[in-house]
Amino acid sequence: MAKSIIDLIAGARPNFIKLAPVVRALTEVDSVGFRIVHTGQHYDDSMNDVFFRDLGIPEPDVHLEVGSGSHGSQTARILERYEAHLMKHRPAATVVFGDVNSTIACALAGVKIGVPVVHIEAGLRSFDRTMPEEINRLLTDALSDLLFVSEPSGLENLRREGVAENRIRLVGNVMIDTLLGHLETARSRRAAKTLGLEKKKYGFVTIHRPSNVDDINTLKCLLNLLHELAEHMPVIFPVHPRTSASAKRFGLDLLLQPDRNRLFCIPPQPYLESISLLADATVVLTDSGGLQEETSVLGIPCLTLRENTERPITVELGTSRLVGNDPEKIRAAFQEVLSGTWTCGQPIPLWDGKAAYRVVKELADWLNGRT
Ligand code: UD1
Repeated sequence: MAKSIIDLIAGARPNFIKLAPVVRALTEVDSVGFRIVHTGQHYDDSMNDVFFRDLGIPEPDVHLEVGSGSHGSQTARILERYEAHLMKHRPAATVVFGDVNSTIACALAGVKIGVPVVHIEAGLRSFDRTMPEEINRLLTDALSDLLFVSEPSGLENLRREGVAENRIRLVGNVMIDTLLGHLETARSRRAAKTLGLEKKKYGFVTIHRPSNVDDINTLKCLLNLLHELAEHMPVIFPVHPRTSASAKRFGLDLLLQPDRNRLFCIPPQPYLESISLLADATVVLTDSGGLQEETSVLGIPCLTLRENTERPITVELGTSRLVGNDPEKIRAAFQEVLSGTWTCGQPIPLWDGKAAYRVVKELADWLNGRT
């Protein structure tokens, strides 16, 4: 049987984490070959190279080198460059991950020239169209031929939107495959100890969503609040480049200075160090979708700094609660964790470390059925 060659699209940090287990599972299947196409949306060593190294992802076969830009220009550059690549090297399918600009851009390039599109992490909806990712999710799903879903809400959303049942597969969460596969190694890094902190005696924070960092008053309020919370318990804060760029633009750099060993503002962390810090934290405050999922599996209280989530299972069964960016709600929830009354989560079905194997089995069967 001739081998089907598929393109796996990676552009931004969360994509690398989702792609890694799929690559590993694909290497065990003879009928499907793959090319890794890196769009270049994330390019700093700390946002990119270190993830490839830590997760053992092979060097990309193709690099589109698009870099940063406004949504329109970044998406357009990826679309144009990936289309040019597709014209010369047509794959059996284009596989896209998650909800970043690289996801929608490559899905659009593929579908326009008749290459089938496969979406991993399909069906998630925050119902908040001010989020760039929500637009990316809606459009990518509308263009996809095969849709892999991580939680039951994804199934309901796709059915409601009229996606045919035979195009949807509920397979679980590939990001959790990476978490479970690297947890032991990550724990052995003891990243908190290198900062002089003890296990389960600190908080861990990440913020990078435009809704939290692109408005001066919101960002100032959140940063002041982090300094206040850190008086109760040290807080580790890896600062995303979007967040540091905003703080600089708004003249808030002083609030990102280290604070008497209470608020530890540190650069973006490699994957293993991040998981090490996360796994040993007492509480996590975040606006990241991935961290909502990872804390749910690790059983760590997660104050989700958003008004909504496209991952409702992390609230229903997991350990996450939506607290928005309202200081009162955040303070109260933080105190609840410190007083030990936060409710524990329950295991989430199919978040078992084997999702990528299910993806690859279904994908291979589907490709086989098309040839
Ligand atoms: C992107 C994704 C977001 C995801 C996040 C994870 C979209 C719309 N957003 O947001 O869903 O949660 O990645 O990190 O795709 N920058 C650097 N170095 C880099 C990359 C970016 O300095 O390697 C800076 C640039 O100033 C850039 C800014 O960060 O303009 C934002 O990067 P971008 O990829 O546009 O969006 P993110 O905020 O990272």
